[in-house]
Amino acid sequence: MGCFYIIFIKVGTNNNNNNREHWGTRIGLVLAMAGNAIGLGNLLRFPVQAANNGGSAFMIPYFISLLLLGIPLMWVEWGIGRYGGILGHGTAPGMFDTLWKNRAAKYLGILSIFLPLVILTYYTYIASWTIGYSMASLMGLMPKATQLLNASPKEVLLPYQDLLSNFIGTGSSGFLLTPKLSTYTFFLFTLFISMWILSKGITEGIEKLNRVAIPALFFMALILFIRVLTLGDPVREGQNPITGLAVLWEPDLSGIFNPKIWLAAAGQIFFTLSLGLGAILTYASYLKKDDDIALNGLSVTSLNEVAEVILGGTIAIVSAVVFFGASSIKEITGGSFQLGFISMPAIFSKILWGEFFGFIWFLLLYLAALTSIVALAQPAIAFFEDELGWARKKSVIILGIFFFVFAHISIFLKGALDELDFWAGTFGLVWLALFEVIIFFWIFGAEKAWNEINRGAQIKIPRFLFYITKYITPLFLIVILFTWTYKELPNIVKTGSPGVTIARIFMILLLIFHLILVRIAWKRRTAEQ
Ligand code: PHE
Repeated sequence: MGCFYIIFIKVGTNNNNNNREHWGTRIGLVLAMAGNAIGLGNLLRFPVQAANNGGSAFMIPYFISLLLLGIPLMWVEWGIGRYGGILGHGTAPGMFDTLWKNRAAKYLGILSIFLPLVILTYYTYIASWTIGYSMASLMGLMPKATQLLNASPKEVLLPYQDLLSNFIGTGSSGFLLTPKLSTYTFFLFTLFISMWILSKGITEGIEKLNRVAIPALFFMALILFIRVLTLGDPVREGQNPITGLAVLWEPDLSGIFNPKIWLAAAGQIFFTLSLGLGAILTYASYLKKDDDIALNGLSVTSLNEVAEVILGGTIAIVSAVVFFGASSIKEITGGSFQLGFISMPAIFSKILWGEFFGFIWFLLLYLAALTSIVALAQPAIAFFEDELGWARKKSVIILGIFFFVFAHISIFLKGALDELDFWAGTFGLVWLALFEVIIFFWIFGAEKAWNEINRGAQIKIPRFLFYITKYITPLFLIVILFTWTYKELPNIVKTGSPGVTIARIFMILLLIFHLILVRIAWKRRTAEQ
C-alpha cells in the first residue's frame, strides 16, 4: 500500500486540459487509427464468423452493414471525438455532457471507458498466446500434422487441440484453468510492453508504435497472402486457391433473409472497426480543430477492410479449403480460436518452411493485437487525465494495476472470457453506438453534427449519407438490439458457471465504480469553477 501513496505523491496531478496532445502527422494519425481498428477481429474473428454464417451468404449483409453502420458511425465517432477533444474531453462522459445539456448525459458516456476496459482484460491475454505461438513456431516446437489425406480433420487437429489446451490450461477439471508458466509470462510481457508504450503518450508512444507496426503487419500479411494463393500442388483432389476464394466470393443472396447472419455481420462490423466502444472517440479527441475527418475516416475504414476481407479472409479461409476441402470448412474454423491457433499451425506444418510462416502468422497477430490493446487502454487513461486531472504516468500506473488484477478473471476462470466478450464485445457496443447517434444527430442537431463532421473535409460526403446516418443507422441499431434481446439474451442469461458469475459480478461492480468516478469528477469540476 505504501508504494501506492508514493506513486500518487511523486507523480502528482496535471490540471491543464488545454495542453492536450495532438497527433504528430497525418500519416501517423491514419496509421494509429488503422492500428486501433485492425486487430484480432480482422484476422481471426472475421474468417470464423464468415465461415460459420454461410461463407459467401455472410458477405452481402456484411457489406450492407459496412455502408449503413460502419462508415456512418466511423464519421460520427470522429466528429464527436474531435468536438469533445477541443473542449478538453477524451471520453464520452465529457463529450456527451457538452453535446447534451442533461445531467444524465455524462452517465451514459461511461460505456466508452467501461467497454474497452472489459475487453482489455481478456484481449491482452489472447494477444499473449499469439506471441507464445510465434516463438514456439520459430524454435520449431510446434507438432507436425501427419497423414493429412487419410485422416479426418478431427484426427489431424488433435495434437494442436492438445497443445492449446495445455497452453491455456483448459484440460483441468473443475472451474479453474491452469495455464502454463510460459503462458503467464507472455501475458506479463504483453501487459508490461503495452503500459510502457502508453506511458510515452500519444505521439511518442501510440503513434510511433503504429508507424512501425502497421506497415510491418501489412508486409507480413502480404507474404502470407501470396504464399496461400500460390499453394499450387493440389493437396486435396479438386481443391485449389480458387475454390477457397469461392467460399467467400461466389455470389450468394441467401443470407439476406436470415436474421442470425445479419446479427453476426453487423456485430463483426462493429468489432472490427472498433466502433461503439469508445476507442475511436478517444483517438479522435487528439485531432486538431480543422483536421479532416471525412477522408481520413474513410481511409482508415478502407485499410481495415483490406486487412479484413482481403488479407484476413484469404489467408485463413483459402489455406483451410486447400488443405481440408471446402466441405469441412466449418469443422476447421470451429469456435473463436480454433482456426487461428489449431487449424493454421496444422496447415503450416504441411508447407515448406512452415515454421517460418507460422512465426510470421503469429507475429502478425501479435502486432495487430498490440496496436489494438493500446487503443483499448487509452480511453481510461484519457479519462484520468482529462476529467480527474491526473498526470499521464500516474494514470498509466493505476490502469496497469487494475489491468493486472482483473485480467486474472479470464486467465484462471473457465467461461469468463466468453462472458466478458459477449457483454462488452457484442452487446454493450450497440448501446453506446445508439447513444452516440441519438445524442449527436437528434439532440445536438443533425445539421450541426453534419457540419461538424464536414469541417476541414477534403472530400465531399454525398448528402444521402446524411439521411442514412440520421434515420437508417439508429433504426438499424434499434432492430439489432430488439432481435438480440429476444433471440440471444435468454440463452446467455440462463447459463452460469462460477467463472461466468464472477465475470458478471466484476462487470456490475466496475460499472458502479465508473458511475462513482464520473460523479467525483464532475463534483471536482464544479468545485473548481
Ligand atoms: N477492432 C479491434 C479488432 O478488430 C478490436 C478493438 C475493439 C480494438 C475496440 C480496440 C477497440 O480486433
